Amino acid sequence: MANVRLFSGERMPLEMHKVRIVQKLNLPPVEYRHEAMTAAGNNTFLLQNQDVFLDMLTDSGVNAMSDRQQAAMLVADDSYAGSATYARLDEKLREIFGFGFFLPTHQGRAAENILAQVLVTPGSIVPMNYHFTTTKAHIVLNGGVVEEILYDAGLEIVSDHPFKGNMDVGKLEALIDEHGRDRIAFVRLETGTNLIGGQPHSLENLAAIRRVCDEHDLLLVMDASLLADNLHFIKTREESCKDLSIREIARKIADLCDIMYFSARKLGCARGGGICIRTDDLYRKMRGLVPLYEGFLTYGGMSVREMEAITVGLDETMDEDMIDQGPQFIRYMVDELVKRGVPVVTPAGGLGCHLDAMRFLDHVPQTEYPAGALGVALYIAGGVRGMERGTLSEQRDADGHETLANMELLRLALPRRVFTLSQVNYAIDRIAWLHQNRDLVGGLVFTEEPEILRFFYGRLKPVSDWQQKLVRKFREDFGDSL
Ligand code: F0G
Repeated sequence: MANVRLFSGERMPLEMHKVRIVQKLNLPPVEYRHEAMTAAGNNTFLLQNQDVFLDMLTDSGVNAMSDRQQAAMLVADDSYAGSATYARLDEKLREIFGFGFFLPTHQGRAAENILAQVLVTPGSIVPMNYHFTTTKAHIVLNGGVVEEILYDAGLEIVSDHPFKGNMDVGKLEALIDEHGRDRIAFVRLETGTNLIGGQPHSLENLAAIRRVCDEHDLLLVMDASLLADNLHFIKTREESCKDLSIREIARKIADLCDIMYFSARKLGCARGGGICIRTDDLYRKMRGLVPLYEGFLTYGGMSVREMEAITVGLDETMDEDMIDQGPQFIRYMVDELVKRGVPVVTPAGGLGCHLDAMRFLDHVPQTEYPAGALGVALYIAGGVRGMERGTLSEQRDADGHETLANMELLRLALPRRVFTLSQVNYAIDRIAWLHQNRDLVGGLVFTEEPEILRFFYGRLKPVSDWQQKLVRKFREDFGDSL
């Protein structure tokens, strides 16, 4: 963010954009919020957006678009094959990242489907810094196994380590020694590691992983969905990169990878996805699946309008002012919550502010989904919708036992350029109130539990009448306030 110091000496994130299109919000009363949550099966994914005041579920597909993106959408070339819109996107990706080939997909997980189908075989292993839900599901569906070899610091909720998303290169070497390189389908590095709190990796770490991959002739695949945040952190936290431009850092990162895939619902601030590929043989192996699952090679399931918006969005991602906004707002929220004694993931990462439900609700056992319960309680307390990132987001093992997550997080995403600082302050206020009243919050139990990706549409109920008690306390403390 621009170097603006305040006379007061205070540190405050300052928006380097102005708002020119708005959407009206609705904040229904607490009793209604309780009813809406019950109707949604105590799953924030199943709420109707009209009942949500601040939608902090995700940054996926809901970042604010710029005037330039909107303008570009009007000049899209609507043709099934050979669209000029595709050529512009392909050219922009080539300009920024320098890969020889690009395959478009309708979103990030579609890219994961293609990668897993082509590269994963039964019994093969995919080492990675940390999994993402859809990534793991595709790898497992194709018979592969995910091995997480994160830095030990990555799982420490409270830390001052600047790069908690780093892969432990020693563990990678040990894994190759133990299983042999032939068992390894590819090495995956997730930039801006989502499930551990949007934590970055360093450029130095990526270079070290590259060296091991070269030594053993292994493919290095980057999930670049959260690259924008990671670029900000490399620029601001990695000494050797502080004089490099965002464009230069982006190119250095890309040059170290064989494949870079992304969700353009995050990277590029529109809706889509794709796979950038270095070599012709890999491109040919994957290409056949695009018309099968996505659409013709020059749109891959995306609307041409979205593709134009991605092209401009990628260009704007090279602007420091643009990519600093998210991490600066998140740091503000994290710092303010720390001041109020609320347990959060530190240091502040990208994507959103992450509440540590394991400590926030230390009386709720993991089998009763503390992060899910906290998400439900926060919606009732303030109309703020977060996303559970804990045991509920895991899958049961083959014997039907719960896989207890390493962390129980409630993610409060800050989609880029969407919320104002006063809205963030409102969320902080309600979270602080909930923290004071945390003893009132109880756990959840499934009433309907889907087998795959259960967190998306599973239904639950509270283990007791804790929600009624929470509503009553809200009225006592806030009177007739919404
Ligand atoms: N990889 C990462 C790191 C992601 O964060 C996501 C999506 C995907 C892949 C899949 O991309 O949604 O376009 O199919 N994350 C969203 C989220 C869903 O809310 O964090 P997609």
